[in-house]
Amino acid sequence: MNTVLITGCSSGYGLETARHFHAQGWNVVATMRTPREDVLPRSDRMRVIALDVTKPESIAAALEASGPIDVLVNNAGIGLMGTFEATPMTTVREVFETNTFGVMAMTQAVLPQLRARRSGVVVNVTSSATLAPMPLVAVYTASKMAIEGFTASLAFELEAFGVRVKLVEPGYGPTTRFTSNGGPRMEGLIPDAYAPLAQRIFASFGQPALVTSESDVAEGVWRAANDASGQLRFPAGPDAVALAGAR
Ligand SMILES: NC(=O)c1ccc[n+]([C@@H]2O[C@H](COP(=O)([O-])OP(=O)(O)OC[C@H]3O[C@@H](n4cnc5c(N)ncnc54)[C@H](OP(=O)(O)O)[C@@H]3O)[C@@H](O)[C@H]2O)c1
Repeated sequence: MNTVLITGCSSGYGLETARHFHAQGWNVVATMRTPREDVLPRSDRMRVIALDVTKPESIAAALEASGPIDVLVNNAGIGLMGTFEATPMTTVREVFETNTFGVMAMTQAVLPQLRARRSGVVVNVTSSATLAPMPLVAVYTASKMAIEGFTASLAFELEAFGVRVKLVEPGYGPTTRFTSNGGPRMEGLIPDAYAPLAQRIFASFGQPALVTSESDVAEGVWRAANDASGQLRFPAGPDAVALAGAR
C-alpha cells in the first residue's frame, strides 16, 4: 500500500488532497503547522503530523515520525498580492521561504529514501500564475516560477533512479483560505499611483469566468502522482487548463 505525505493540509487544496488520497485507499500523512485531526476522516490510514516547511528541525521531526513515504506533495504555500515597488524585501524573503525554499528543503529531505528504493514521486504545487503573467503578483509568481524550473531540471536528474518529479498548476480558487491567510501580509502594498490598476485587477477577480475547486486540484495531484507517461505539468482547474492550452 502506498503512503503520501502532503504539506499544508489545514485548509484548501491540501486538505482536499489528503481526503482524496485517503478515499482511494492510500496511507496519508497529512501535515499542518498546527495539527487538527477534526478536519479529516478518522482512520488508521490517516495520520496528522506537525510540520512547518520553513523550519529544518520541524522537517526532520515530521519525516522521522512519518516513516517511509512513496509520494511527497509540496502543497503548502502563501500568497501575496501588491505592487512590487511597495513590497518590503523581508516580505519577498518570507514568500520565498515557504513557496520556494520550503519546497526545496522538503524535497531534499525525502530524496535519499526515494533514490535508495528506486521509486517514488515528488509533486510540487505551483500556480496558473506561471502559465500567463498578470500584474500585482510579481513576487508570488517568481517564487512559483523558481519551482517550475527547479522541478523540470530535477525530473531529468532523478530519472535514472526511478524517481519522478511533477508539477501541478492550480487555477484561482476563491473558496480556499489563500486570500484571507495572506491578508495581513498584503496591507499597504498598493500605493496611490497604482490604485487605478489595482481596482481593475481586483474587479476582474470579483467576476472570474472560470475558477478552480479544491477537488480539481486533489484530482490533479492524484493524476500527477500516478502518472507513468513522463508528463511534467498538470494544470488543475478549468481556468488553468484554458491558460495552459492558450500557451
Ligand atoms: N487558492 C488559489 O487561488 C491558488 C491558486 C494557485 C495556486 N495555489 C497554491 O495552492 C497551494 C494551496 O493553497 P490554498 O489555496 O489551498 O491556500 P490555503 O487554504 O491558505 O492553504 C495553504 C496551506 O499552506 C499552509 N502553510 C502556509 N505556510 C506554511 C508553512 N511554513 N509550513 C507548512 N504549511 C504552511 C497553510 O497552513 P496554516 O493553516 O498553518 O497557515 C495551509 O494549510 C499553495 O501552494 C498555493 O500557492 C493557490
